[in-house]
Amino acid sequence: MKDATPAAPQPVRLADYTPYPFRIDDVALTFHLHPTATKVVSVLTITPLEADQPLDLMGEGLTLLTDADGTPHLKIDGAPVAFAPLDPALPPFAQGIRIDAIDIPDGPFRLTSEVEINPEANTALEGLYMSKGMYCTQCEAEGFRKITYYPDRPDVMAPFTVTIDSDLPVLLSNGNPQGHGSWHDPHPKPAYLFALVAGDLVAHSDHFTTASGKPVELNIWVRPGDEDKCAYAMDALKRSMCWDETEYGREYDLDVFNIVAVDDFNMGAMENKGLNIFNSKYVLASPETATDRDYAFIEAIVAHEYFHNWTGNRITCRDWFQLCLKEGLTVFRDQQFSGNMRSEPVERISNVLQLRARQFREDAGPLAHNVRPESYVEINNFYTATVYEKGAEVIRMLRILLGADTYRAGVDLYFDRHDGQACTIEDWLACFEEVSVRDLSQFKRWYTQAGTPLVTARWGVEGDDFVLRLSQTVPETPGQPLKEPMVIPILFAIYDSGKEIVPETLAVLDAPEMVLSWPMADLGHPADATPSLLRGFSAPVILDAPISFGQLLALMSDDADPFNRWEAGRSAMREELMRMIGGESAVSPELLSTLETVLRDTSVDPAFRALMLALPSEDDLAQACVDAGLVPDPGVIHTKRRAMQTAMAGALAPELTCQYDAMAPAGAYSPDATQAAQRSLCNTCLVYLTLAEGADRARAHYDNATNMTDQMAAFAALLDAGDPDIAATFERQWSGDRLVMDKWFMVQITQAAPDAAVGLAEALTQHNLFDWKNPNRFRSVLGGLIASPAAFHDPSGAGYRFVADWLIKMDSLNPQTAARMSTAFETWRRYDADRQALIQTELARIADHGDLSRDLGEMVARMRG
Ligand code: TRP
Ligand code: ZN
Repeated sequence: MKDATPAAPQPVRLADYTPYPFRIDDVALTFHLHPTATKVVSVLTITPLEADQPLDLMGEGLTLLTDADGTPHLKIDGAPVAFAPLDPALPPFAQGIRIDAIDIPDGPFRLTSEVEINPEANTALEGLYMSKGMYCTQCEAEGFRKITYYPDRPDVMAPFTVTIDSDLPVLLSNGNPQGHGSWHDPHPKPAYLFALVAGDLVAHSDHFTTASGKPVELNIWVRPGDEDKCAYAMDALKRSMCWDETEYGREYDLDVFNIVAVDDFNMGAMENKGLNIFNSKYVLASPETATDRDYAFIEAIVAHEYFHNWTGNRITCRDWFQLCLKEGLTVFRDQQFSGNMRSEPVERISNVLQLRARQFREDAGPLAHNVRPESYVEINNFYTATVYEKGAEVIRMLRILLGADTYRAGVDLYFDRHDGQACTIEDWLACFEEVSVRDLSQFKRWYTQAGTPLVTARWGVEGDDFVLRLSQTVPETPGQPLKEPMVIPILFAIYDSGKEIVPETLAVLDAPEMVLSWPMADLGHPADATPSLLRGFSAPVILDAPISFGQLLALMSDDADPFNRWEAGRSAMREELMRMIGGESAVSPELLSTLETVLRDTSVDPAFRALMLALPSEDDLAQACVDAGLVPDPGVIHTKRRAMQTAMAGALAPELTCQYDAMAPAGAYSPDATQAAQRSLCNTCLVYLTLAEGADRARAHYDNATNMTDQMAAFAALLDAGDPDIAATFERQWSGDRLVMDKWFMVQITQAAPDAAVGLAEALTQHNLFDWKNPNRFRSVLGGLIASPAAFHDPSGAGYRFVADWLIKMDSLNPQTAARMSTAFETWRRYDADRQALIQTELARIADHGDLSRDLGEMVARMRG
């Protein structure tokens, strides 16, 4: 039920936080499962903490059941109690209910309610819903209120007992099993960590013994037929459990740990206490169906959700403004884990690529917000790259600034002091202030100022000294015109003709400017001293350092820091591409020969060499144009980037062939980092070689592939080469596998010629396997188009219209997914007036369509500015 002209939803503000005036001592829930009429019986034991307070309970779309005599089933200590809508302006029960203070006992009491909900009609995939005959829940952030009346806020923590009444064979909830369909979770938790799963599922089981000798039963639950695709996730889980013990001293704390794979899921996975629920794409893997990248994601996400058991569950967030308290920290932990399990530098480079592609982009546009936001309309819109990825960078900086040992002491204190609590960023920082005896109030600006800082470095000989000048500015962002200086850790070294003349040093830039200097005599009078700055990407900033092209090539070969070696190569390629976009045609022979030397260097990890060969993305180049004061033309960027790839392919063909042959896999497939690295270089060579010599090699690669990594690489190369049959061939083989077909949908669009991609995307939405209600499938098609800037930004506006049409359609079904996809438009200010006008038209069309959700409404309003 909605009003004809709904008032703009009011934002929630951090400044308005007030504690809940009641304690929930115990929660007992009984679920009588039915696809369209599930009955939820709730018995809450409640203690008032303050006198004369009304009891507010959130609830959305709940039907309160009535007794035989028609009395609503909401009772205190067995007697019906009066209640009013939480918001008198809204239709009854749209948001929840309020019980007046005069009806509340002074001491502990029992509140019982019986409601009915309809899981089958729940297409938003939030609350209790159905996915292929299976019941499952997603409660973060505010989904529990769609299940029963409850103080659905993270600072209300309680122990839960759950009884599930259903004929289905597998009935799961949080905590420890107490018999079939009965669960007890002794650890007090916020409602967003509640979960329930019921279905015809099979388990891949194993066990783990904690460091202190406690046995834990491990299960990964999947639909019958998928049980042979769980081994890798299970292995990743056991390694995560071990790693958290050795690296953070954290053990698991229940008798069982369950993971469930679900096909219809809005996000990656969810850390519900003792019952993690995963998007099946981050659980199921076999060599034939999953790529090396998929395996790496499974490992990282299994670890991420497991690590939440301490960073998120045992210690949770006081309110949703503190989301980065659990997400930034847990991302940092999963990045550390992946770095330990795989190649540290390769993982770091991948993380930075992600950060720049998603977070820098967000920070540079109308959706920029603090790592800790101060207001929101819809909290689901703040599960962002800024909260997650920049939030992780902030913790990485803290560790660099304080040192590994002090960092560990601070985290230990945090666990010790706050176990069982709902905390704030202030609580977190106070632990580090205490162990380091430092004032972190300026460092805290990383949480309260949006925008990517710009660090400018200038250097040269001044008198008898070599001088390095560093300065910082933080750009204006929506609602934040003025910024204060940040604390920026800058790891650097100084080079002269391939030699490190100043060893790695940490400079802390905490003022607008700082000057570092060395007597030239102490440096041995270098001829061409060049700093290698921001090693390992020690801070999430944009660096403006005028390193000459020749010096970049030198650092590309010599820098002892692998990250900066890669970074130098990337900068050189970007400069080259910018020259080409500006009209120059030839690719520098020096760059090509440096790349050849790197490619040939077998002492270097093949995965690292593959990264060195990759060009900046079209989206990166669009931003580079903006930074250079130019208006990006996505079509030109696409053409020039391809020209550079072709030039590289031609010039490096002999060495690419050598490496292609040398990296050819030997022996049985393993997803481990060593083999994956070889395949990544092999398949990178394949892409270039297909450009240089045509499709024969890719066809052979396709025919000989024994795993999805190789098959997918060849498939993409063949599509790119215009092979007319390969899409149908691939489809015939894989039409029965949902996760593989997601790739099929996406890669056809990303590999299509820019002027054909929108038409192809339209055609694919007519395909009998296009199921727009499945978020993965929807994201394959929409995401494929959005990931192809030259197609999405087609001057006709067809790409914009296609995306807007689907956002409008999706919004009524699954607002969360529609809102996430809408960030496709966040960079609109970069482009020319015609494109800006076309995008504005589409944003207006979305904003004006009837029944706009709070989710998409907020996103569009922020983007329009
Ligand atoms: N807490 C989850 C994670 O990061 C994220 C998540 C899963 C989520 N499902 C969600 C967030 C639904 C918002 C809505 O691990
Ligand atoms: Zn998380």
